[in-house]
Amino acid sequence: MNSLEGKVAIVTGAGSVDSGSGTGDAMSILFARQGADVVLFDIDAERANRTLDTINAEGGNAAVVVGDVSVAEDCEKAANTAVEQFGGLHVLVNNVAILKPGNVVEVTEEDWDKVFAVNVKSMMLMSKYSIPEMIRSGGGSIINISSNEGQRGQDWLPFVAYSTSKGAAVTLTTSMAVQHGKDNIRVNCIAPGMIFTPLIAPHISQETRDLRRMGAPLNQEGTAWDVASAAAFLASDDSRWITGATLPVDGGLLATQSLSLVERFRGSSDE
Ligand SMILES: NC(=O)c1ccc[n+]([C@@H]2O[C@H](COP(=O)([O-])OP(=O)(O)OC[C@H]3O[C@@H](n4cnc5c(N)ncnc54)[C@H](O)[C@@H]3O)[C@@H](O)[C@H]2O)c1
Repeated sequence: MNSLEGKVAIVTGAGSVDSGSGTGDAMSILFARQGADVVLFDIDAERANRTLDTINAEGGNAAVVVGDVSVAEDCEKAANTAVEQFGGLHVLVNNVAILKPGNVVEVTEEDWDKVFAVNVKSMMLMSKYSIPEMIRSGGGSIINISSNEGQRGQDWLPFVAYSTSKGAAVTLTTSMAVQHGKDNIRVNCIAPGMIFTPLIAPHISQETRDLRRMGAPLNQEGTAWDVASAAAFLASDDSRWITGATLPVDGGLLATQSLSLVERFRGSSDE
């Protein structure tokens, strides 16, 4: 059983939309259940406070910081809050990402820059202010949230800025792992597959939801809690010898090929 007793964590995008759990609030709630003090960093105060209410109701400890992960002062404020309110910093989860449509011909320059600011620059900024505090706290664990989309080409709806930013998260993870191992800071990455979260729920039909589920070898739909369990392991000392890794949490989706996905779906629809 992982334990996060005595650890202080920051989770970015820790808010929840009212109809269920995204990865940010699931990780925050699970970390608090395992004994961590959690800084809930989100651009939306109402969403962050919903996660805070859940943690408080369960007897856990958390604090809200409202800010934008692409703004340096807000990231610095989150790191300072961890130290001022909870006495140190051991875990950082870079969870926030946004998505803009289009292949390279269609995407606007403005959308490309925005996606990279929110999805990648944020990881650098949060780490810049968190790592010195982790060193003062004796070491730490940083978890960058990437995506399956960062490791393979998208053949259906192109979101090239998003997928490229998710590939960058993997490279950033390996560089940071190599450069900060000497500081006793581990840096790992989680690459979720197609999970069902409140942010995407209004945008997909039942048919698409079924297709997503059947596309993965395990044939089961993933949830935010599957990602949260992996993050809790990487945050805990149970993973003390793991750094520089990218862990797919995807029901096996990355291990298969798109042609076999189509065949699997056809096979089940014909039954
Ligand atoms: N949902 C999926 O199917 C899926 C699949 C693969 C990877 N992921 C990755 O998982 C992560 C979380 O996705 P999710 O859909 O569970 O979302 P989530 O619910 O965890 O996060 C959304 C939160 O981020 C906050 N936020 C948005 N922009 C912000 C900003 N600039 N600064 C601070 N907070 C901000 C929102 O207010 C919201 O509360 C992302 O990195 C995403 O790329 C998700």
